Amino acid sequence: MELKFSTWQEVDTYLEKSGGIIIPIGSTEQHGPNGLIGTDALCPESLAIEIGKQTAALIAPTISVGMAQHHLGFAGSITLRPSTLILVIQDMVNSLVQHGFESFYFLNGHGGNISTVHAAFSEIYAQASMGQSPTDQSKVRCKLANWWEAKGVMKLSSDLFGDADGSHATCGEVSLTQYAYPHSIKNVAMDPPIAPDGPIYDAADFRKRFPDGRMGSNPALANPEAGEQLFKLAVKGLAEDFHKFSA
Ligand code: NI
Repeated sequence: MELKFSTWQEVDTYLEKSGGIIIPIGSTEQHGPNGLIGTDALCPESLAIEIGKQTAALIAPTISVGMAQHHLGFAGSITLRPSTLILVIQDMVNSLVQHGFESFYFLNGHGGNISTVHAAFSEIYAQASMGQSPTDQSKVRCKLANWWEAKGVMKLSSDLFGDADGSHATCGEVSLTQYAYPHSIKNVAMDPPIAPDGPIYDAADFRKRFPDGRMGSNPALANPEAGEQLFKLAVKGLAEDFHKFSA
């Protein structure tokens, strides 16, 4: 059940049975020569929508822009500063707490969000601990789940792609979007086949180290069939994890 296609009465009824909600969170950033700029938002969103179809889980609107400062050297990338993203997450949680939501499951598609999302959770708990919550937040629980860490997914990616999976514009995430959005598949040759890997600093440094935007990957190997396998496995693992978390 998606929040945007629900009425407030339906949300009231949902809250009688569950205080859990899945909030997809991603990024709008370059993903190399054949990866969509929306990849990191489209992956958790498509997975969440399927989880919402298969189970009774309520799915919030996707936070589609994340912390992606290091990608700003490439056209079309958008970032929120960490401090802005923390406020966005706090405001979303504080809004939904008013109605009785308690368990906030952030389904994440972007490694660059991880530290900031955890900092936002600490801010939310600090509000309660210091007696500064706008409402009673003693029952609020937040969890970050990275889709690529769902049960079995990393092993499957490694079986499918080995070292060519890489760490940004990975074969796995490009495959997932190719399965979920087959009309947006791009066929582009990669040069070199496997991209360089290395540390992340600012945007100008990133562009120098990773000229076409990929890190350690060869997403020319991505394919929708692999994406389907990854998608189904991730949905199963994440749905189980959400229900355990929100029970
Ligand atoms: Ni990505």
